[in-house]
Amino acid sequence: LTVTKPIIALDGPAGAGKSTVSRRLARELGYVYLDTGAMYRAITWLVMENNINVEDEESIASLVANVQLELLPSDNLQIPVTVKINGQDITKEIRTPRVTNQVSKVAAQSAVREKMVALQQEYGAKGGIVAEGRDIGTNVFPHAQLKIFLTATPQARAKRRLIDLQNQGESNIDLDTLIKEIEERDYLDSTRAIAPLKKAEDAIELITDNLTIDQVIEKIKSYLILV
Ligand code: DC
Repeated sequence: LTVTKPIIALDGPAGAGKSTVSRRLARELGYVYLDTGAMYRAITWLVMENNINVEDEESIASLVANVQLELLPSDNLQIPVTVKINGQDITKEIRTPRVTNQVSKVAAQSAVREKMVALQQEYGAKGGIVAEGRDIGTNVFPHAQLKIFLTATPQARAKRRLIDLQNQGESNIDLDTLIKEIEERDYLDSTRAIAPLKKAEDAIELITDNLTIDQVIEKIKSYLILV
């Protein structure tokens, strides 16, 4: 008898607490943690580094065809994963506002998504994984045993983002700008043609405005007992 460990899909917009929750959940359960946003960020960084226009789908398609992307567990709690692209460590670079503000345009492209989804499915093939993103429950792992959709109001999410950025040493940012950027990114992510940000029909929605990280994790663990 082989028992496959479950796949946990965690989707939702930026700043709802997905990253912290997924990482801690994976650690506590002894599962693999997969940060799919980091993959789209890495490709975006590579596009910009090569001076390719973020709208130039053809050039981007040939760029991703041969890309070598590595996600390695990070031992620093402030950093979700160590990311290497074509051998170069770009862990810090992928979190800069420069990348953050362009990533939606790159993540909307079919050549990019096809390649990333295939890599993600390889990661999850054996189960025992907490995968976070936008389309995990709807598209990457539609048969995941547990699907969670984490959300929070743009205000709550912007406040958390501000603290994150300040922790990374970015001091020149104001809350209203962040709220605007978050709303803009939500709009792009949820209206794009391919695999938009959307709650899977069988996902459990958790609104995290008034929940602590611990409370969210406890809730998810209690659902896990039921699968
Ligand atoms: O979660 P994040 O902020 O690191 O994600 C970065 C971007 O990548 C975000 O604009 C949405 C996109 N993304 C996506 O399209 N599909 C995923 N599964 C994960 C992220």
